[in-house]
Amino acid sequence: MSYAEILRSRIEDRSALVGIVGMGYVGLPLALAFTEAGFQVLGFDIDETKVHKLNRGESYIRHLDGHRVERAWSSGRLCATTDFSRLREPDAILICVPTPLGPHREPDLSYVINTAHQIAAALRPGQLVVLESTTYPGTTDEILKAILEGSQAASPQNVPAAVVDPPARLVCGQDFFLAFSPEREDPGNKNYGTTNTPKVVGGVDPVSGDLAQALYGQVVSRTVRVSSARVAEATKLLENIFRAVNIALVNEMKVILDEMGIDIWEVIEAAKTKPFGFMPFYPGPGIGGHCIPLDPFYLSWKAAEYGIWARFIELAGEVNSAMPRYVLGKTVEALNRHGKSVVGARVLILGIAYKENLDDDRESPSYELIELFQRRGAQCFYCDPHFPEARVGRKNRRAMKSVPLNAEEFARYDVLVLATAHNEFLDPALYKRAPLVVDTRGVLPKAPNVVRA
Ligand SMILES: NC(=O)c1ccc[n+]([C@@H]2O[C@H](COP(=O)([O-])OP(=O)(O)OC[C@H]3O[C@@H](n4cnc5c(N)ncnc54)[C@H](O)[C@@H]3O)[C@@H](O)[C@H]2O)c1
Repeated sequence: MSYAEILRSRIEDRSALVGIVGMGYVGLPLALAFTEAGFQVLGFDIDETKVHKLNRGESYIRHLDGHRVERAWSSGRLCATTDFSRLREPDAILICVPTPLGPHREPDLSYVINTAHQIAAALRPGQLVVLESTTYPGTTDEILKAILEGSQAASPQNVPAAVVDPPARLVCGQDFFLAFSPEREDPGNKNYGTTNTPKVVGGVDPVSGDLAQALYGQVVSRTVRVSSARVAEATKLLENIFRAVNIALVNEMKVILDEMGIDIWEVIEAAKTKPFGFMPFYPGPGIGGHCIPLDPFYLSWKAAEYGIWARFIELAGEVNSAMPRYVLGKTVEALNRHGKSVVGARVLILGIAYKENLDDDRESPSYELIELFQRRGAQCFYCDPHFPEARVGRKNRRAMKSVPLNAEEFARYDVLVLATAHNEFLDPALYKRAPLVVDTRGVLPKAPNVVRA
């Protein structure tokens, strides 16, 4: 029996041990999907707090049903570790580590590369490695493959005697297997989760692609096989660039229509009644999250290597990143109309999370708003029921605490800027006594004290 055949039979009878490196917003739901399908999962993370929580059956992601983590843990199928020498245990290793941007908007693959070296140090014949982190085409078959193939083989685990003679150097597609399968997690989406979202899979070689497809086929309702890891990598980038460009388009439309005295949200509501050829996207105070603000630049960076200037991507980035300043300008204008200067004004930002009803503040435009208001001399505060405290981070320079969420408190500020449409902010009674509200999401009913921006 070949390594591929042994692995396939373990996948099919669900006795394969699945290792997941990076137990964050992507890795943890994926781990739960595998445990719920009957697989044993071993999670790897450098964050000891997360590992300890998982090993007590506790979740650290608010929008994820805590009972699912508890059930996975009490079934004995979910276990986590910070010991990366255990990477030789899993039959399949799924990499879900961060892929941020560096200070000059260049891809930062250091997490992926470190993980690849850790896997290489433990790699044994018969393992399948799948990269799930979003990245530019070529990462899996250029970078990962080279690191893994350069490794010395560890002795195989639980492999029948006929194949226990490991080669000195492991060959991809023969001794170990390598694929890319993008993650399409949409945090907080009530209709689509890990198992009912089709999963795109592309192998570095056909055997690797077959095995990765067989693995995901056990847990997701539909796999979409593509011809290579590069096609799978490019698919994910197209999806996110499509979103970034369309969000930029509605943001630009918002600015134009506002000058004409037309409400963009009303226009979108009407346009979306067209049953074909239109898909609604919504304007906002800027874009946030770990994907849309970052991923497009993975492609524009790689395109430059081929002498191509990715104009749409750069333009979308320019339009979207101008939105916090646009909101600032509209707020200053509205304050002026109330006879109030921005200098010394008490400004309350509603929402620190980048998306409604989530406890995720990565790349949130709210931090930029806070900084812009402070630089103009305003006293800036925030309220977010999902973030009692805002810790200092890449985008946030000052630790802050949320103010209470009630109408009495809201009446104490010169202006409220609704940046995130959390359900808790949608009650119009909250704003009855507020002098001025700037609604960047178009969710509050029209009222004399409400301005849309
Ligand atoms: N969050 C999303 O909605 C989403 C959706 C699609 C794709 N992605 C992509 O998935 C990848 C992971 O994103 P995420 O949102 O889960 O990030 P995350 O920050 O929530 O999780 C990453 C985890 O990896 C851990 N980690 C960091 N370095 C590590 C290392 N060397 N070894 C082991 N663990 C390590 C961190 O402690 C953290 O728990 C990124 O490439 C992202 O672009 C994310």
